Amino acid sequence: MEPKVNILIVDDEEIVRESLASWLEEDGYEVKVAENAARALERLPEKEWNLAMVDLKMPGMDGIELMDEIRKIKPETIVIIMTAYATVDTAVQAMKKGAYDYIVKPFNPEDLSLTIRKIIEHQKLLKENIYLRKELKKQYRLHDMVSKNHKMIEIFELVKTVAKSNSTVLVQGESGTGKELLSRAIHMESPRKDEPFVTVSCASLTESLLESELFGYEKGAFTGADQARSGKIELAKDGTLFLDEIGDISLKLQMDLLRVLEEKEFRRVGGTQLIPVNSRIIAATNRDLTKAIEEGKFREDLYYRLNVISVLLPPLRERKEDVPLLVEHFLERFNIEMGKNVEGVAESAMRMLMDYSWPGNARELRNMIERAMVVTKGRMILDADLSLPQTPGVPLSNNRGKSLSEMEKEHIRRVLLDNRWNIIRSAQVLGIDRVTLYNKIRKYELKKEPVLNS
Ligand SMILES: Nc1ncnc2c1ncn2[C@@H]1O[C@H](COP(=O)(O)OP(=O)(O)OP(=O)(O)O)[C@@H](O)[C@H]1O
Ligand SMILES: [Mg+2]
Repeated sequence: MEPKVNILIVDDEEIVRESLASWLEEDGYEVKVAENAARALERLPEKEWNLAMVDLKMPGMDGIELMDEIRKIKPETIVIIMTAYATVDTAVQAMKKGAYDYIVKPFNPEDLSLTIRKIIEHQKLLKENIYLRKELKKQYRLHDMVSKNHKMIEIFELVKTVAKSNSTVLVQGESGTGKELLSRAIHMESPRKDEPFVTVSCASLTESLLESELFGYEKGAFTGADQARSGKIELAKDGTLFLDEIGDISLKLQMDLLRVLEEKEFRRVGGTQLIPVNSRIIAATNRDLTKAIEEGKFREDLYYRLNVISVLLPPLRERKEDVPLLVEHFLERFNIEMGKNVEGVAESAMRMLMDYSWPGNARELRNMIERAMVVTKGRMILDADLSLPQTPGVPLSNNRGKSLSEMEKEHIRRVLLDNRWNIIRSAQVLGIDRVTLYNKIRKYELKKEPVLNS
C-alpha cells in the first residue's frame, strides 16, 4: 500500500476548510485543518506534510509569512497559496517566495483534484530523483570512467592495485568500450602520472612508418631521413607507452616488439646504440587475439609477454545498468562544454536507450547524447531527439506524416516537461488558459513522466 498523503489546510473560513477537506478526503488524502497560522505552526511537527494549502489573507500572520515559517521547519512540504484576490501581484509575490503554485477561490472541485494530484505526483518524482542522485553518487568512478556494473567495478579495483606496478597490461574489449580511457586511468593511478602518456595507433600506419614511429631513426637510415628522430618509445621515457590496436601490427614488428619487451632496450632504425626502455607498456585491442594466434596472425610469445595483467572490458549491452549512469555523465559533461542546461532524458526516450543493443558501446552512446543535446529544443531529451537506428518495435518520431493533433500533443508534452508540469507556467508558454490546458492533458491522456534528472 502506498503511504498516506498528508495535506494541511490553513484557512480562517470554516466553510473553505470543511469543503476542501471533504473533497480531498474523497480523493483518498489524509487531511487536517488549521484555522490560522498559529494553529498551523502547532500542527506542523505532528507529521511529514506532503502539502500545505495556505490562505493568503488571514487575520494575524498572513499566508506568505506562514509559508516562510513552513519552509524553515518543513522544507520538504510543498506550499500552495489560496487566494480570493486573483491579482497577479500577490500570486507572483507568493511564487517568488517559493510557493509551488497558487489557486484562486472559489475552487472548481474537479480542477482542484487534478492540480493536487499533479503536485503530489511531482513531489513523489522529486523524492525519487533525490534517491536516484544519491544512488548515482554511490556509483564507481575511476578518473573519467563511471560504472556500477560489478565486472567493471572489479576492473577498477584491479587497476588501482596494478597501477602501482610496472607490469605490462593488455586491455581487450569491443570498440568503444573504454580501452583507451582505462589505459589512461592506469597511467593516472600510477606513480608515473606526471610523466608522459604516449599513444601509438598501430592500426593507422604502414609497417615501415610504424617502425620509425616506435623506434625512431638515425640520420640517413632511409631516403628522406635527413635528420635523426626519436621514436615514441623514447618519448614515453619514464611514463606510459600505450600501444593501441596492437592486434593489427605485422609479424615482423611483433618480433621487434617482443625483443623490446624482453631485453628492455632497442636501437633506432639505422642506429647502433642501444637505448634503454623505462616506460610501462599498455597494449589494447578489439580483436580476439587467441583467434589471431590460432590463425597464425599473432605471435603467442608476444601475447604472453603483453598479457601479464589482463583486462577484458564487457560490452555495454551486457551492462545496461550503466546506460542511465553514462547518460547522466555525458549530460553533465556536454552541458558544461556546450553551455547548455539539458536536465535529463524523458522516460520513454530512456526506455529506447535501454532497449538498444549498442554495437558501438559507450562511444556510440556518447555521440548520440551529444547529438541529441544539439538538436533538442527543450530542457529534456525526448524520443525524437535520439537518432537511434530503426529497430523493430521502436518507432522513431518523425514529424512528416504526423497529424496536427499529434504535433499538438507532442508540443504540449514538451512544454509540460520543460516546466515540470507547472500548469500555470505551461499554460502561459502555450498561450492558453489553465482550463484549456487541463482539457488537452485529459484529451491526449498526457501523464507526468519520471525524468532521470530533475
Ligand atoms: N566507463 C565509461 N565512462 C565514461 N565514459 C566512457 C566509458 N567508457 C567509454 N566512455 C566514452 O567512450 C569513449 C570511447 O572510449 P575509448 O576511446 O576508451 O574506447 P576504445 O575501447 O578505445 O574504442 P576503440 O576500440 O574504438 O578505440 C570515451 O571517449 C568516453 O567518452
Ligand atoms: Mg581506442
